[in-house]
Amino acid sequence: MTDKKLIAVLGATGSQGGGLVRALLDDPDREFAVRALTRSTDSKTARELAAAGAEVVAADLDDGASLRTAFDGAHGVYVVTNYWAERTPEEEARRTRAEMELSQADHAALAAKQAGVEHVVWSTLEDTRDVLGTDGRVPTVEGRYKVPHFDAKAEADAIFVEYEVPTTLLRTTFFFEGFAGAMAPRRTDDGELVLALPMADQPLSGIAVADIGKTAAAVFKRGRDLVGKTVSIAGDHLTGNQYAAALSDALGEPVAYLPVGWDDFRAQGFPGAIEMGNMFQYYAENSARFVGDRDLDAVRDLNPELLSFRDWLSQHAAEIATRLG
Ligand SMILES: NC(=O)c1ccc[n+]([C@@H]2O[C@H](COP(=O)([O-])OP(=O)(O)OC[C@H]3O[C@@H](n4cnc5c(N)ncnc54)[C@H](OP(=O)(O)O)[C@@H]3O)[C@@H](O)[C@H]2O)c1
Repeated sequence: MTDKKLIAVLGATGSQGGGLVRALLDDPDREFAVRALTRSTDSKTARELAAAGAEVVAADLDDGASLRTAFDGAHGVYVVTNYWAERTPEEEARRTRAEMELSQADHAALAAKQAGVEHVVWSTLEDTRDVLGTDGRVPTVEGRYKVPHFDAKAEADAIFVEYEVPTTLLRTTFFFEGFAGAMAPRRTDDGELVLALPMADQPLSGIAVADIGKTAAAVFKRGRDLVGKTVSIAGDHLTGNQYAAALSDALGEPVAYLPVGWDDFRAQGFPGAIEMGNMFQYYAENSARFVGDRDLDAVRDLNPELLSFRDWLSQHAAEIATRLG
């Protein structure tokens, strides 16, 4: 047992929660003890978290009773839902992904209320319908959404308020890691490198995923001052040309920005293409507000280690280069 305040972390084996666990364990003040929550306590990642000093406890966002037990004695809880979770065909038929996220947020908020948790940090995003509207200008997805992995999280904000859970809304943004994955530069048949991004000439707010955890750790440390507040975060705000220029410098080879049209992006036909096309349209059409809400100095005040895109590239350019072959 420890007399330190305890933070229970959902998604602890994943990117956001994993970053938070590391940030809390690496904190020189070791202000908090860490409980890492996972559905699979014997996975390799779970065992690594235990070896690093976290208490590993089983919890499933689809099982409210498991959350209630897992939150027992916790001062704080980090709640992140995974819209993109792998699902069985039966689960796909049973409910939409937005319904899943809303139900999981409800379970987490209720369990936090019942366990008397003093500070929840809810990883959320804006409601894109405030900008994209609800008419047919932009295709509708999952019945009433434009970008369900944003909109459902924004709808869930109200659940934490309804249960009167002391909550900080942590509004995230596009992970820089996307540039080493689905949104990485690619080589054309002519051998040129292009960064295809549907952002027109507008800035896209990005963040290194580890900085979400580091900033969340700072929010827990800041404590009650941030309960009831929204903290909107990013590590950089760059246009497609600026992302391409940084990639050119890091890869040592020119990368040209290719501003893909939103309809062209949506027409690609891969699962999620319409939702992702809508998302980039939202980022572009709402960039003044979205960027304006994410003051880099304020984020850096919470998390002095906040990485710019060029900082992040200095650690990750090799991964991108390997991918290009
Ligand atoms: N990619 C982006 O640019 C971006 C930007 C902003 C926000 N987001 C949001 O980030 C979220 C995903 O976060 P991430 O990238 O940190 O996730 P991730 O790395 O893909 O990991 C998913 C985590 O969720 C946990 N999990 C999944 N289903 C669970 C359940 N039923 N009960 C308990 N835990 C569950 C997994 O834990 P176990 O498997 O160990 O149980 C794992 O730790 C998504 O909702 C997405 O919309 C993404």
